[in-house]
Amino acid sequence: MEHILIEKQAHIAVITINRPTKLNALNKETIQELHEAFSALNKEQAVKAIIITGSGEKAFVAGADISEFANFSVQEGQELAAQGQALLFDFVQNLSTPVIAAVNGFALGGGLELAMACHFRVASVNAKMGLPEVTLGVIPGYGGTQRLTQLVGKGRAMELIMTAGMVDAETAKNYGLVNHVVAQEELLEFAKGIAAKIANNSSVAIAKAIQAINANFEDGTNGYAVEIENFGACFGTEDFKEGTTAFLEKRKAIFPGK
Ligand code: COA
Repeated sequence: MEHILIEKQAHIAVITINRPTKLNALNKETIQELHEAFSALNKEQAVKAIIITGSGEKAFVAGADISEFANFSVQEGQELAAQGQALLFDFVQNLSTPVIAAVNGFALGGGLELAMACHFRVASVNAKMGLPEVTLGVIPGYGGTQRLTQLVGKGRAMELIMTAGMVDAETAKNYGLVNHVVAQEELLEFAKGIAAKIANNSSVAIAKAIQAINANFEDGTNGYAVEIENFGACFGTEDFKEGTTAFLEKRKAIFPGK
């Protein structure tokens, strides 16, 4: 992998996007590498949570790589968005392993879209987030118009996208865009702390919960029906047996993995 780093510790994997001289901008190869990394880590039994962050102290990801699409046609623009959404943004959103974005600086355009595709976000105090695409004469194409609206509401999404404005970490927290704000040097450890709590729980049940929560945002899907089905399915799992038995035996459950 040329543009990303992967580090594994206990049940947690950390993916670092590693193009610091380009503020970790997402070019085609980086998107492909991220797809492969998420896909492989999702299949690894031992990996129970994934954190994604950017290298350096300045940026999480400063957007899609503008130099790549500057000369694109209408057709190429549509393909760029469709392929990126399928390979990375929708893929991460629907991954059965929890993904936390550790936003360590600028998260702009495709960078904020990537953070929003993750299951939730934590940020460092210096983080700045926005969707500045209209300054380039385009709109967000990696799900930004949809996920920002879901996370912060229609009015705030409209204003942020129309003004191409950036919000700081505290404002992002007030908006519900990030869950926590911590000092930059503490960000990764903080995210790992949350990931460790997740890793203690049933990965099988968590995967079912992710699916049920996401169902709330899918057109034509009845989220309550998905919840009922997934709730029932849990009763047929080893994790359910272990979780309930451990509770009744007054001991800590030990879940085997995914
Ligand atoms: N695509 C391609 N390259 C990018 C990039 C992007 N989205 N964002 C930053 N870079 C590159 C710059 O071109 C520069 O490369 P160079 O040194 O080879 O010239 C390098 O990263 C450093 O960026 P620079 O602009 O010099 O840093 P800065 O501190 O002055 O500004 C930003 C930081 C984030 C405000 C600024 O880089 C920026 O506005 N980036 C684009 C954000 C954007 O519009 N994203 C949406 C894309 S859809």
